[in-house]
Amino acid sequence: MSVGIIGTGSYLPSKVLTNFDLEKIVDTSDEWIKTRTGISERRIIDDNANISDMAVEASKKALLDADLEVSDIDLIILATCSPETLMPSTSCLVQQKLGAKTIPAFDVSAGCTGLIYAITIGTQFIETGMYEKVLVIGADALSRHLDWTDRTTCVLFGDGAGAVILGKVQKGYGIISNYLAADGKGADLLKIPAGGSGLPATEDSFEKKLHCVQMSGSEVFKFATRALPRATKAALKRANLTIDDVKYIIPHQANIRILENVAKKFGVGFDKLIKNIDKYGNTSTASIAIALDELQRANKIHEGDILLLVGFGAGLTWGANVIKWVKYKKSK
Ligand code: COA
Repeated sequence: MSVGIIGTGSYLPSKVLTNFDLEKIVDTSDEWIKTRTGISERRIIDDNANISDMAVEASKKALLDADLEVSDIDLIILATCSPETLMPSTSCLVQQKLGAKTIPAFDVSAGCTGLIYAITIGTQFIETGMYEKVLVIGADALSRHLDWTDRTTCVLFGDGAGAVILGKVQKGYGIISNYLAADGKGADLLKIPAGGSGLPATEDSFEKKLHCVQMSGSEVFKFATRALPRATKAALKRANLTIDDVKYIIPHQANIRILENVAKKFGVGFDKLIKNIDKYGNTSTASIAIALDELQRANKIHEGDILLLVGFGAGLTWGANVIKWVKYKKSK
């Protein structure tokens, strides 16, 4: 037996914030944002919703796709950079809202690489025989952590959630390799400084907007153009495959120029890289799951296709999963 993705789902809030809307908020332009990032618009979470609500919607779709009930799930792992509360974990809120019984649930904090980490963790639980079906979610609402006066960050991010269900698939298919890495030396390059125990929220931290995303854009850009190829090469090597074997690269959606750079480095056609950044911006831990779900629902993935999920993010972290796709058939 192998472990594979047996269902996918995603959720995007209905509220659209375009580059033209942003022109009215900060000193920016549609032209600058489009040419420097590839983003045209992004979604913003409803005022009365939280990331657990988005996560639940994405999870319900994934359950339906896998033809499963919530009672079939043994474990929930939720990756996020914007947990609903520091305590309890957002995954516990999702468990309750989904109506799941007392199955274990925990959050993973690994920056925008969170989904890759969570898929890798979930896979191990099934491989060891401890659980059979694991719900893995990436959900973020970084719009709630943006300084809407800082044009260098507020134009980049959007909100959303994506979910995958991991389960047993036929041998030789499914997740055939994983690769994870981190380098805390780069911790300062991308962070939300306040709100944790290191710098609890105070009047001063609020005034200085220290609960907002801070980023050294060009440094993160350079890191990303190194990290994505490194993760890709390492995961493919473990799978004993080459880039030519890969049908689709599903990368974290942060900047179209990062993806162009990666395509160039590997000498692969840009169409091999799945892109939806123009519509959603950087949805952090959700971006890879949303892109995978859209591709799957468009019937573009076929049995035996090799997919490479690859991400990078705060931490710094980076990683990849290589998957040989198989359409899941539920045993009745
Ligand atoms: N609108 C208009 N001008 C802007 C702007 C905006 N939204 N943001 C920055 N600028 C300006 C800068 O102030 C700078 O002006 P100056 O030359 O007068 O100082 C100029 O544009 C160039 O800025 P720079 O930071 O060099 O742009 P860039 O080409 O590096 O693009 C990013 C900036 C943030 C888009 C890019 O560095 C990036 O995408 N980095 C990676 C981010 C990332 O992946 N984050 C998520 C990781 S999970």
